[in-house]
Amino acid sequence: MKLTKMALLGFGTVGQSVVKGLRGDSFPSLQLTHILNRNIARKRETEAAGYAGPEVVWTEDIADVLDSDVDVVVELIGGSDPAATWIEHALRSGKSVVTANKQLIAYRGPELARLAAAHGVQLLHGAAVAGGVPVIPGMQQGLGGDQVVRVSGILNGTCNYILSRMETGDRYADVLKDAQALGYAEADPTADVGGFDARAKLCILARVAMQAELDPEQVATQSIAEVDAVDFAYARELGSTIRQVSKAQLLEQGMYARVAPMLVPLNSPLAWSHGTQNMVVSTGRMGGDVVFSGHGAGGDATAVAVLSDLLAVAQGSRAVHLAAEPKSVTGDSVAPHYLRFIVNDKPGIVSAISGALAAAGANIDSLLQRKGYPKQRLAFVVTTEPCLNSVIARAVDSTATLDCMIARPLALEMLVVDDKDEPTA
Ligand SMILES: NC(=O)c1ccc[n+]([C@@H]2O[C@H](COP(=O)([O-])OP(=O)(O)OC[C@H]3O[C@@H](n4cnc5c(N)ncnc54)[C@H](OP(=O)(O)O)[C@@H]3O)[C@@H](O)[C@H]2O)c1
Repeated sequence: MKLTKMALLGFGTVGQSVVKGLRGDSFPSLQLTHILNRNIARKRETEAAGYAGPEVVWTEDIADVLDSDVDVVVELIGGSDPAATWIEHALRSGKSVVTANKQLIAYRGPELARLAAAHGVQLLHGAAVAGGVPVIPGMQQGLGGDQVVRVSGILNGTCNYILSRMETGDRYADVLKDAQALGYAEADPTADVGGFDARAKLCILARVAMQAELDPEQVATQSIAEVDAVDFAYARELGSTIRQVSKAQLLEQGMYARVAPMLVPLNSPLAWSHGTQNMVVSTGRMGGDVVFSGHGAGGDATAVAVLSDLLAVAQGSRAVHLAAEPKSVTGDSVAPHYLRFIVNDKPGIVSAISGALAAAGANIDSLLQRKGYPKQRLAFVVTTEPCLNSVIARAVDSTATLDCMIARPLALEMLVVDDKDEPTA
């Protein structure tokens, strides 16, 4: 049997799980020869270090890896540099690369894939989206024969943990603290709650599933930090819950893509994901909807995707790569919207708000007012008939300036199950 020699860059959460997964003779075709990390001595003290064979070279010097005869470099340090430079050097020196680095693949994936092709090696990144859920190989191998027109997903486990806890009545700030204590959220949670992590993954999915190269910076994001416990109470009255949804859809020209907290009907698969679970629903012209779900993060789950990529390289199996093209992006689509206002209740408020909405071009569909909120801080909700997100953004700006408004209104897109309408730019 041909042995595939591999080097691991980064002995952190995922790196250690990869080594754990390789222990014993689980995968006899794979041979781990190098482990690189900064300040390597303390890494050798970890429990996972005991799973690495005695012949493994522990190093802090990338030259030890690049000048060796390893066949595959597994990049698990994360970030843009030195990860990008080391990947480029590995590819140029004829080594295949397996990585879980979503930001790098979202921003520089096409260029690195061309570099890999030019040197006759592989660049696989199955762990970059949804951790252990095989969305990327599923899209490439399993759905390559369909014409996927839309992908919607729950792509950030931290946000899903926060929102699904808030669903049961917990406050955002308390749940965020718990998520940080449990290691689900970073000390600075902006990348997760602001939608930037999910945006990177959505761009990778758009490329793999719909052959559309998107500039992540052009994809609109909305933070989940604006969502309050009161929104879950109103969402329930509307037969829905709230999730951070990442959605991309092919348009006649260009593409719609957006990451935002949205109202999700309880009968949508996206509402069924709880805790740190990830879920992706892909819609194809021929095959219709296909759902992927499972653990989107965590060392062991992510290591499964890394090891599967390694086995694919070791067996010489080629991923299906369809040529992708750059596409322009809009975050504007036609949808019904949920608008939550917190006001100091006075006569004439509803007509002032409905006047401002009508002037912006939004028609009210329903008005909901739950009992029990104080008059000085009354929370009530308006849902609108389908209209463009940009119309709603204008409506929020104009209603925010009304005297009665205690806080900036919150607007959330409402997902419609079995929505056959194409979003319009
Ligand atoms: N964790 C997950 O659930 C998950 C899921 C999907 C994808 N990913 C991706 O997998 C990758 C690894 O994530 P992780 O959670 O394992 O991160 P991590 O725990 O922070 O591990 C990264 C490792 O790389 C080392 N490192 C960082 N910069 C280095 C440098 N310049 N030179 C040498 N060593 C360096 C770190 O050393 P120190 O100990 O000194 O910091 C650490 O041991 C990232 O791209 C991440 O986005 C992670």
